[in-house]
Amino acid sequence: MLIYHLSAECYPVAKVGGLGDVVGALPKYLNQAQQTARVVVPAYNNAFFQKTEYQTVHQGKLRLGPFVFSYSVLYEPTNQLGFELYQIAIPELFDRPNVYSYEDDTERFLAFQIAFLNWLVETNQQPDVLHCHDHHTALIPFMVQHCYNYESLRFTPTIITIHNGQYQGWFGYDKLHYLPAFDLSKIGYLEWNGTINPLASGIKCAWKVTTVSPSYLDEISNKANGLENLLRWERPKSLGILNGIDTELWNPKTDALLEHHYGLRDFKKGKAANKKWLCEQFRLDHEKPLFTFIGRLVGEKGADLFPHMASIALHEFSGQINILILGSGDPEVEQQLSGLQHFYSGHYSAYIGYNEALAHKIYAGADFLLMPSRVEPCGLNQMYALRYGTIPMVRRTGGLRDTVMDVGDGGFGLCYDQTSVSDVVHSIGRAIQLFADTKKFDAVRKEIQQIDHSWNSVAETYISVYQSISKQHL
Ligand code: GLC
Repeated sequence: MLIYHLSAECYPVAKVGGLGDVVGALPKYLNQAQQTARVVVPAYNNAFFQKTEYQTVHQGKLRLGPFVFSYSVLYEPTNQLGFELYQIAIPELFDRPNVYSYEDDTERFLAFQIAFLNWLVETNQQPDVLHCHDHHTALIPFMVQHCYNYESLRFTPTIITIHNGQYQGWFGYDKLHYLPAFDLSKIGYLEWNGTINPLASGIKCAWKVTTVSPSYLDEISNKANGLENLLRWERPKSLGILNGIDTELWNPKTDALLEHHYGLRDFKKGKAANKKWLCEQFRLDHEKPLFTFIGRLVGEKGADLFPHMASIALHEFSGQINILILGSGDPEVEQQLSGLQHFYSGHYSAYIGYNEALAHKIYAGADFLLMPSRVEPCGLNQMYALRYGTIPMVRRTGGLRDTVMDVGDGGFGLCYDQTSVSDVVHSIGRAIQLFADTKKFDAVRKEIQQIDHSWNSVAETYISVYQSISKQHL
């Protein structure tokens, strides 16, 4: 089957969060399973783009209401990522370094989707499945079904994966004329709660809806930033599929970004050497348990708790723990987290920024990973941590609920129910006890490295979903 993945992110082309990791990995595993999975993302003017050589495979024009833009489809011919990568260049809109957060994001991603469909139609392509990810590509199911220009694609099966239902890409009716002409009686497929809502439209029009974990699918029927009723209504065509991780990239035996490699036999030595290196870099105490957080410093991840939580924990367990934070996001939280370094140097450090290489080194060197997320559709960091023998400490929500079981219940992590300072600090107390019980601590660390979260079996699940809709098609 020929499957196109449409997304704003794809690691290592452009990554802001977990969406990038998934779109950079799933297609590779689909290809390994004998499918033809291609990825299409915008051509941002970033480091990857500058160092990559492309072939221009198509050029055309697209219209956003009165505005006309030229676009080119660029193809990366070496297939070095394990799939065919296409990037759509629309210079006026994407010749910028970042993925999101520009005032014209609505225009940018609308133009990207229109350019993609124009390309398919102008080159007479008939893919088996269009797989859209999140709201940035969620208007494609509507457009193929209802825009006159795309009539030749009308019956192409579409699937939308919700990585994060909080963001929906809303825009007002003043921009409705940017969409290619469609039968106006179908406008209901674009609306939700009085506005144009791309994610809602994707959920209504796609042949299948998937979420990135089964628990998240259950949760969003009750809490989905306004889409609850729609998701309940569309439940029969929805399913939750837990993400995998790229176990080729994330392998402590071979990970080129690590200072010291290790496997199941020598993980104690290997993790200790990585920890020592890390603690030297950040002036921490390598004898004491090392707690870390890696990710975006936003409310969904519970990052606003960190300044308060870190100071309480560092007081309460004075001299017994280290905390190391890597992330960027909310400027106020960033500032507070940097500020704490003056008070707790030797036991606390924060690296404000995005640093993929450092993230790998921290997974290898840390003892515990903190994930007090308020919302976590899947969460990949807990899976990376497991693979690197770092014990996850998570709030039971979404994918965290599906992947981490508490040591007290015969599992291997530390779990709690509230995104609150007291729950996190209490779990740190439990972690200190676990760390002190060396035998148990090592047994847990050994066990978690063996849990299989590779994409291989997940790719098979997606293939059967694709097959089910492409059969419907015939
Ligand atoms: C989003 C979600 C995260 C998920 C990722 C990949 O970033 O917030 O939970 O793991 O997408 O699906």
